[in-house]
Amino acid sequence: MAEKKPKYYLTTPIYYTNGLPHIGHAYSTIVCDTIRRYKRMLGCDVVMTTGTDEHGVNVERSARKAGVPESEFVAKMAAVWRETWDELGIQGDEFIRTTDVTHAHTVQWLFRLCRENGYVYKGNYVGQYCIYDNAYVADAGPGDNCPDCGRPTETVTEENYFFKLSAFQKPLLDLYAKQPGFIQPETRRNEVLSFVEGGLRDLSITRTAIRWGIPVPGEEPHVFYVWFDALTAYLSAVGGPDYERHGFWPADVHVVGKEIIRFHAVYWPAFLMAAGLPLPKQIWAHGWLLMESSKMSKSRGNVVKPRPIANILGMDALRYFLLREVVFGQDGNFSYDALVQRYNSDLANGLGNLASRTLTMIEKYFDGRLPTFAGAVGDASFVQSYSRVQLAARQAVEAALGSYENLQFSRALEWIWGQSGQ
Ligand code: MSP
Repeated sequence: MAEKKPKYYLTTPIYYTNGLPHIGHAYSTIVCDTIRRYKRMLGCDVVMTTGTDEHGVNVERSARKAGVPESEFVAKMAAVWRETWDELGIQGDEFIRTTDVTHAHTVQWLFRLCRENGYVYKGNYVGQYCIYDNAYVADAGPGDNCPDCGRPTETVTEENYFFKLSAFQKPLLDLYAKQPGFIQPETRRNEVLSFVEGGLRDLSITRTAIRWGIPVPGEEPHVFYVWFDALTAYLSAVGGPDYERHGFWPADVHVVGKEIIRFHAVYWPAFLMAAGLPLPKQIWAHGWLLMESSKMSKSRGNVVKPRPIANILGMDALRYFLLREVVFGQDGNFSYDALVQRYNSDLANGLGNLASRTLTMIEKYFDGRLPTFAGAVGDASFVQSYSRVQLAARQAVEAALGSYENLQFSRALEWIWGQSGQ
């Protein structure tokens, strides 16, 4: 009987369709693709989910500006995201769009479970909202800017369904204590811990002021809050209500950018606990790829596109650069100079020369054929250097695998690189 492969499920964030892919988004996705390849190599049955986050007021406004219906607008944008990953050779297994019907059913099902378990109630919300981050801003007054992105907030008054997030302070703190590796890296864990320790307010999870969203069944005009909707995509990608039969939930890791750690490490596990569903095993927050020390954004005009780089240098070079240059979990700087320098020094000169020297020596000293170990046993100096190289290689492989396992990609590459000098 064929041996059953261990299952492994990982996710990228799902990307907003009111923007286009830049190298920061590509970084998240390339990292996940690397984990996916690594786990496959180890023999796991891997599913990697990526996709697009298509609802909310931003999309509603962008579609209006473009003079097309929302559904048409998001279909076009989702196609661009999908094509970009295809072109970059990124092998996602599931591409979930939050406008998929099956996804809507999963969101409605999750809401029903939370409500049946007594964690949802109706109330009134009056407060400031940041349409760019899709988040309510606590403690802000009319005219205040969003403390995260600095852009103006808007005052909203709505009848909403609230999620009893306040009931999950202790269960969440217990979770973080019982599973110290649940939030990675340590700095993000501490940040989340102090946020939760500071007390949790109930969270509004439906909207009536927005039309472009998943309807709350029987409660029109309520639509779901985009984060309740978006986070659930991780579950709808692997069967939704039928997740047990699919066998991939809970996720092994959600890879996210540091700015969305709170949604993943606080709200998401709370929703799942309220619904009585299994929790993901880990949330890994990486840093930002900075362009001249500031975050890439359309408004700053410092966006770097991944496609032209991959077209000129090749996707392997781009992947290598990002994984080698940035310490996973920390911010890293992107610059064309650094990219070209790494390409020349590590890949063209380092790896390229190593390969060409090795081939030349095989040609020159061994008539173009690799000697077998058995055939050279009588040659003491050959046996000695063979054993030395073999031992060093084994140690490097083990160390590199260990680093990959902990998502320390730059360390893994350092180990592998160390071998070229042997
Ligand atoms: N739609 C939400 C995520 C929902 S997940 C249930 C969202 N989308 S986003 O398109 O704005 O950004 C998605 C992710 O892109 C970020 O979390 C981050 O992982 C990545 N990045 C965007 N800009 C980045 C950099 N400059 N550097 C590194 N990653 C960046 O947030």
